[in-house]
Amino acid sequence: MCGIIGYVGSSGETLGTLLQGLSNLEYRGYDSAGVALAASPLTVYKKQGEVDALEDAIPNPAPEGHAGIGHTRWSTHGPPSDANAHPHTDCHDRVAVVHNGIIDNYQELRDELTASGHEFRSETDTEVVPHLIESFLDNGANPEEAFRSAIDRISGSYAIAAVFDETETVYAVRNQSPLVLGLGDDGTYLASDVPAFIEYTDRVVYLDDGEFARLERDEVVVTDSDGAAVEKSVETIDWDPEDAGKSGYRHYMLKEIHEQPHAVRQCLRGRVSERDESVLFEELPNLDADGPVHFVACGTSYHAALYGECLLQEQGTAAQSFVASEYDIDRIPVDEETLVIGVTQSGETADTLRALRGANRSGATTLAVTNVVASSAARECDDVVYIRAGPEISVAATKSFVGQQITLALVANALAGGSSPAFRRALRNLPDQIQRILDESAARSVATTFIGSDAYFFIGRNYHVPVALEGALKMKEITYEHAEGFAAGELKHGPLALVTRKTPVIALVTGDEPTATKILGNVSEVAARDAPVIAVTDSPGGVGQVADRVLVVPTTHPWLVPVLVNVQLQLLAYWTADELERPIDKPRNLAKSVTVE
Ligand code: G6P
Repeated sequence: MCGIIGYVGSSGETLGTLLQGLSNLEYRGYDSAGVALAASPLTVYKKQGEVDALEDAIPNPAPEGHAGIGHTRWSTHGPPSDANAHPHTDCHDRVAVVHNGIIDNYQELRDELTASGHEFRSETDTEVVPHLIESFLDNGANPEEAFRSAIDRISGSYAIAAVFDETETVYAVRNQSPLVLGLGDDGTYLASDVPAFIEYTDRVVYLDDGEFARLERDEVVVTDSDGAAVEKSVETIDWDPEDAGKSGYRHYMLKEIHEQPHAVRQCLRGRVSERDESVLFEELPNLDADGPVHFVACGTSYHAALYGECLLQEQGTAAQSFVASEYDIDRIPVDEETLVIGVTQSGETADTLRALRGANRSGATTLAVTNVVASSAARECDDVVYIRAGPEISVAATKSFVGQQITLALVANALAGGSSPAFRRALRNLPDQIQRILDESAARSVATTFIGSDAYFFIGRNYHVPVALEGALKMKEITYEHAEGFAAGELKHGPLALVTRKTPVIALVTGDEPTATKILGNVSEVAARDAPVIAVTDSPGGVGQVADRVLVVPTTHPWLVPVLVNVQLQLLAYWTADELERPIDKPRNLAKSVTVE
């Protein structure tokens, strides 16, 4: 998501090092940037927009300090603005804080701190941290004690760094959000991601969850949550600068596929209770679906919409998905009773915005499901829910699709007025299950086996039809090979004519009886025509007899199987494209955000 840089070293170098670090982090996507220098007094510069705009806002000569922190923000709480940009400070500018992640209990802390006289200047969850630190400083704690005590009070996911006025130290902590320390000859560094400081040092120490770090000019000290010293190993990074932005992955797409466990955790954070697993979807207090529900979306987001449609239909809601460019309110009945849900990663897709604007004019209630805070869709709809997948750089959507699936499953739950304990448990296990697939998938070897095929066909039933369509879309987008997705039942009504021994059929073989039996029947139809079958399944026993290759997914709640299946299909497309040496992150003729109709 956001980016963090920290530095302790030569005074004349601090600001330049921080600004260079922020430029290095630009690839992550951001909407504002800022730095804090532990000068006397503590000095903060922050600005909505690009790092260049921040640089323009800094006077020349700038104040100097031996320690500083910087941040590129990608909005999650509060829209992009100068005030919401990091670093955030306490009431008296004694401490400045940057933060990646989400603080779950920020609202109750903010209420408590406001009641005791603290004045907040932003809408962010982060700002509770400097005010908490201030409250401990006021009670006589030293900076390190105040920092630790404040962290004790927060729950959520975070990588946090802080500097205090008139000091030469950076304090940091991590929980479920990465932080790495750098050991240079002339100073020490801290960042959310190695590229931030790669030109200064290649010697790094990775922090683990629950660990604190204190950075001084010539040493870093890592301690556990009780304050006991932790021995850390120093690793040497051997990336070339070109690879640095991808954190060592060959492509952004692969990096983003691997970020999915984190993206799912972020999406669920504060929405599924850590304690009793109840679903608390407080962003949508007034949502109802007494009337029909229409989804409007394009591309990958349309496939997420189709998935949402299945979930709502199963609960008795009259839900229907529309390709946004075909959503014509002169033809399709839309009125005050209709809930129109726009699913759009960017929130800026012209076709989707046009459809939502038409729905608004018709008096329908509109809801944006989007990744980008304060995007056009977010601003123009009656309600908005964020998928919190973090910035996606690769043109082919991956983690945003998973974020959309999870968010729509939660929306379906909210509309149904609750959820089963089994579903909630399954949601909580999902990030680890995705991780297992990433660690164990055979997709790379399957991809290699079928290079040189004439086409790839993807078939599924029920909730898996949207995923079959998405698997085919991913395959064609990044490999340039012919790929089609079908409802498995439709195969025999036409596409079967195309099936040969040179057309692998990727069959999504999941679900209970009678779906499982039917899809096995479809598998037999193609196997009888000599087509190779790749089964993606949570029950490899039966289909293993018929399929040539099997990609296994862990068992989970039926609503969530398509999420796991999709990860295997992403990997299959990725490794096929890699084998074919395609320009995976920037496929020909395609754009990440299409702002024309
Ligand atoms: C473009 C992208 C697709 C994306 C679609 C919808 O075509 O290449 O990956 O699915 O736009 O984008 P949205 O931002 O509305 O989800």
